[in-house]
Amino acid sequence: MNKVGIIGAGAMGSGIAQVAATAHCQVLVYDTSAEALKSNQAKLAQILEKLVAKGRLNSEKASQIQANISYTAQLEDFAHCELVIEAIIENLPIKKKVFETLESIVSKDCIIASNTSSLSITSLAAALQKPARFVGIHFFNPAPLMKLVEIIPALQTHTATVETVRQTINHWDKLTVLAKDTPGFIVNKVARPFYSEALRLYEEGIADIATIDWAMTALGGFRMGPFTLMDFIGHDVNYVVTETVFKEFYYDPRYKPSFAQKRLVEAGYLGHKAGRGFYHYQENVAPPLPRQDEVLGQQIVERIVLMLINEAADTVHQQIASKADIDTAMTQGVNYPKGLLQWADEIGIAACVSQLDNLYEIYHEDRYRCSPLLRKMAQQGTTFFQPKPMAIDD
Ligand code: NAI
Repeated sequence: MNKVGIIGAGAMGSGIAQVAATAHCQVLVYDTSAEALKSNQAKLAQILEKLVAKGRLNSEKASQIQANISYTAQLEDFAHCELVIEAIIENLPIKKKVFETLESIVSKDCIIASNTSSLSITSLAAALQKPARFVGIHFFNPAPLMKLVEIIPALQTHTATVETVRQTINHWDKLTVLAKDTPGFIVNKVARPFYSEALRLYEEGIADIATIDWAMTALGGFRMGPFTLMDFIGHDVNYVVTETVFKEFYYDPRYKPSFAQKRLVEAGYLGHKAGRGFYHYQENVAPPLPRQDEVLGQQIVERIVLMLINEAADTVHQQIASKADIDTAMTQGVNYPKGLLQWADEIGIAACVSQLDNLYEIYHEDRYRCSPLLRKMAQQGTTFFQPKPMAIDD
């Protein structure tokens, strides 16, 4: 796959174009906005310049990457593309319209993909005359830096399309995982409790935001605490993902959004970019101090990690992805300190079940129901992965 088309020159389209061009593909970027095309080109030049200045790229390679990318305002120029990845506005009818037009331009063998993070791949594929060539290719932001890519076949996708795409994206120096076409795919589904259980602890007054963030980083080993991360992502984006996953899973209470976050969105306190979210980002405001209570901290980590494990286990149970792919997705896609299923093995499956049952006993909410897979495994005494063989001198 050497001739690659990218539709949409926004944050994701630009990043994906850079990734493909770095892997020696001839990349054509199309956008309806001339302004977006211009700024994409200027931003890429800036990024490459910085990489050269830092010594991460030599200037010859930087020029090569730039030379590999061309920009166009005509979709007709995509006629010779072998793979086209769409990264435009997250809107089903608009995306479908673009795919219909694109299919009349490209050859019958061209693979067509969407980078959507929340729409059904199957519903997008249905816009095509030949939906077997359609697939979801979900990059993470920023695409040049994030190693993980989720590959999502639609119901109509041919297995050969999936194979070709996986090989191509692996060749672009990415790590691919395979996910069933379900809301949030792997990462955006499995990660929900990281935010929602933290919000629950905060709303119930069990701990304040600074203490929860301290516990999750200092004791849990996560790179960022949930409140810092939500502020960083932006509450408009993070809240909408939660709400979408909640609605798309037919209002499963497990994904219920939080009022605390909704109010931030309503107030326009969208996080870092707005100067205020859960935290204040003005220079003269001192950050709140955590209560560094180790016992409370461990309880916070245990509860959030337990809910993450339950979600990961249910994702295996629902056959959305393999055990290995789920652990890879969470460690590579969102930098979790450990794969959640490996973590479950270490805690002990029976211990996970009994802690979840304790929470259910207190709340009597479906949100805390234990995954049937965990319960079955506890009964059978099995683990997700084989224990590592002991070294000879152990
Ligand atoms: P963006 O808003 O930065 O860029 C979208 C671009 O699409 C704009 O340049 C716009 O001019 C262009 N566009 C809009 N309608 C078009 C059309 N009909 N034809 C051609 N170009 C058109 O959006 P972003 O953030 O890059 O997202 C793009 C896609 O990637 C969305 O589907 C989003 O869900 C997905 N995504 C976004 C991530 C993120 O963190 N921003 C992460 C992973 C996926």
